[in-house]
Amino acid sequence: MRQPMVAGNWKMNGSRKANEGLLAEVREALSSPVEAEVVVCPPYVYLPQVAGLVDGSAVRLGAQDVSDQDSGAYTGEVSGEMLKDVGCRYVIVGHSERRGLYAEDDAFTARKFAAARRHGLKPILCVGELLEERESGVTEQVVARQLDAVMDLEGVESLKDAVVAYEPVWAIGTGKTATPGQAQAVHAFIRARVAERDAGVAEGLRILYGGSVKADNAQELFSQPDIDGGLIGGASLKAADFMAICRAAVPAD
Ligand code: 13P
Repeated sequence: MRQPMVAGNWKMNGSRKANEGLLAEVREALSSPVEAEVVVCPPYVYLPQVAGLVDGSAVRLGAQDVSDQDSGAYTGEVSGEMLKDVGCRYVIVGHSERRGLYAEDDAFTARKFAAARRHGLKPILCVGELLEERESGVTEQVVARQLDAVMDLEGVESLKDAVVAYEPVWAIGTGKTATPGQAQAVHAFIRARVAERDAGVAEGLRILYGGSVKADNAQELFSQPDIDGGLIGGASLKAADFMAICRAAVPAD
């Protein structure tokens, strides 16, 4: 049985004050525990603060990105070792905003995935198609290419300690959620693609859905057999919404 996960990707949002308020509310809400593993991914500069704010709670810390390099003359970069040092357990790699706005391709994303693993971080690998790719019927090819880049470099076993997030780019921040059926179809495809290399790894792999998940659509999405939780942007910035989404994630039978 896969434990569901709900991860909040704060993107470039937050302040010391706002983070304090948000985590105080989340901790309060978690006095009634949830079945999902709950993760928050603040911007780099707030990781030490948020590590303190979640200390002693069930909330885990994740980063939004990681360098493909380990140390040295890479101005502006942050290594996996540093993320581990400040208390991160997870790191998002290959988010569509990195791929699309900062030209990070499949090979580069795979190297970041490898860097995360070298330092004992669990990568949350984002995959997903653009609107024009969906409309031209190549969703599966795109997702397969993104997944294969990682499995080719690191081996299918590397997914044992990783999480995949399917985030259709057209659903991110747009209010246009994929229907549960659309999302389930791609999640099943991802699991099958991994199963071609290792059925056991595929069965244990947590595949999250991301893209306009809200308190009122989470339950229907999460009840699909291959959807193991969510990667939440906007709604993770409001404690009540985020916690309602966390409560909607329960293990499949
Ligand atoms: P929204 O939930 O704001 O659509 O963002 C999804 C996302 O990109 C999470 O990584």
